[in-house]
Parts: sequence; C-alpha cells; structure tokens
Amino acid sequence: MEEKKRIFSGMQPSGELTLGNYLGALKNWIKLQDEYDCMYSVMNMHAITVRQEPAELRKRSMEVLMQYMACGIDPEKSILFFQSHVPAHAELAWVLSCNAQMGELSRMTQFKDKSKKHADNINAGLFTYPVLMAADILLYQADLVPVGNDQLQHIELTRDIANRFNHHYGDTFTVPEPYIGKAGARVMSLQSPENKMSKSDPNPNGYVWLLDPEEVIIKKFKRAVTDSESEVRASEDKPGVTNLLTIYAAVTGKTVEEAEKEFAGQGYGTFKQAVGEAVAAELAPVRKRYEELAKDKAYVEEVYKKGAETAAKIAYKTLGKVYRKIGFVAR
Ligand code: TRP
Repeated sequence: MEEKKRIFSGMQPSGELTLGNYLGALKNWIKLQDEYDCMYSVMNMHAITVRQEPAELRKRSMEVLMQYMACGIDPEKSILFFQSHVPAHAELAWVLSCNAQMGELSRMTQFKDKSKKHADNINAGLFTYPVLMAADILLYQADLVPVGNDQLQHIELTRDIANRFNHHYGDTFTVPEPYIGKAGARVMSLQSPENKMSKSDPNPNGYVWLLDPEEVIIKKFKRAVTDSESEVRASEDKPGVTNLLTIYAAVTGKTVEEAEKEFAGQGYGTFKQAVGEAVAAELAPVRKRYEELAKDKAYVEEVYKKGAETAAKIAYKTLGKVYRKIGFVAR
C-alpha cells in the first residue's frame, strides 16, 4: 500500500477567522483531506509572541478549533489539536534553535514587521518564532505545508534548518515543501480593497466574519466599496470590483471571466447583492454546524484530546530520533 503524503498546517488564534481565511486557506485544507494525511493545529504557542489577554486567548483557541470543524475539517480524516497539548513542539524548538543562526532569523520580514508594530515588546519568542514553526512541521515529517505567501520565507528557513540538521547528524527530517493551492484566493477588504481582508480591520464592514449571520453578510457586500464606473470587470484600476469577482468565483467555483459574463450589462447593485447572497449561502451551513458544536463541548473535547494523543505518538518518535542523533543519553 502506498503511503499518503503528510500535510501540516495551522493558524494562530489571534483574532476572528474571516472569509479571507476561509477562501485563502480553510477551503483548501478541506479538499486536501482525502488525498493526504492531514494535521491541522491551533497555534496557541505562536500567539503569545504578542501580548494576549489570557481569558480571550483560551476562548478564541476553542473557537478557532470549532471553526475548523464547522468548515468541514473532519476529525475522522484529519488530526486536529492544540499546539500546546503536544510538549514536543517546545522540546524540538529548543534543539532547532541551537541549529538556527541569529543572522538568518534577523532577516525574517515578519520579525521586522512585528518588531515595528510591537516596539514595546520585542521579546525573544518573537525572534525565535520561525524556529518553533520549523519544529511544528519537522516533528511530523510533513511533506507539504499549505501556507499563504506571507509564510513562504518561514518555510524556506524550515527547509534550510532541516537540510543543515540532516547534513550534520544524518538523515532525520523530511524536507518539506510549501503547498500553494490552485484556488488560493487572496481576499481583500470590502472597504479598502488595496488591503488584505483582516480581522484587525477597524471598520467591521471591511471583513466578513465566518459566523456572521446571512443578513449581515449581505449588508456588508451591499456596502462594499467599488468605483465610479458601472462595468463589472476585473482590472487593476478597479480593485473593489475585482475583489468581489474573485470572491464570487472562489465561492461558486466559476472563473472570473465566467462571472464577468454573468454580470455583463448589470449594475453594481445587482452584482453586489448576488455576491453577498452567494457568500451567505456558502457560510450558512458553517454557522449552523458551529452552533451545534458549541452545544456539544464533550464531543469537541474528545476530538482535540484524541488529536493530541495521535499527534504526540508521531511527534515523540521524531523527537526520540533527534535526541539519539545529537547525543543525549537515553532515559
Ligand atoms: N505562522 C503561521 C501564520 O501566522 C502559523 C503557523 C505556525 C504555521 N506554525 C505553522 C503554519 C506550521 C503552517 C505550519 O500563518
């Protein structure tokens, strides 16, 4: 029997999940479940590299896990768990930090951006963040890592660390590759379409929350910023309309060209209403499943406990191998 390739990915529970996370990542993760051995984790250890309110972090971590499930990550097919439930992540991160160079870590653009944004809290964890991320991936011998463009530099570093370790200590880690989904739609803000749709948008009309009720979703699309023309056409000087076309195409499975044809000669009002309705229809079952899950705490708990147990088995096999290779005395 041919072994399936392994996929690892995760999101930080540092805010609400949006339509951007859904179309850019989650929809892809769901599709990959049949073809690959998938592991999806809630990266709560990464989240504390910036200040978090403890009660909020705990609540949001749970919500993110339930949103993974509500979107269609199936615990029968994929391993779902909280990063902090498998201590091997922290343990391998230490070993890898002794195999990562200050110089390469200081070149990470995310570190530079975040140190500017959180100038009062440039902690050591923010600096070694990519080492923990390398540990997440290498622990499970992942072949492929679905990530957005902003994480490609971290995957490249993970590959460098893995290659360096393998070279030094003998073959230990699978060297992972980034997986860029075909339909990896980049969703922009509905209010300022030159920026990525983000949960930290000060204007809530800019983003669609995964669990927004249908009428709220439709209202947000009706208010979406477009331009002073009236032609439904994708073009660089029409970022608002282009974004709406991208969203419509991603949700319906049509191409942008097909969508353009469908709305040819129609005004923005009709177009925006149709996009809103399509998104609302796509997210309605997600919200329904979420509400069911929120009522079934026992089941959710069973899922993440079982997930952590399965993950730990794989993780400690790798960590044992690493400890042997580097010369730690067996216990
Ligand atoms: N850094 C990723 C992000 O912010 C989250 C993450 C942490 C991750 N560990 C990972 C993604 C391992 C993929 C694989 O999006």
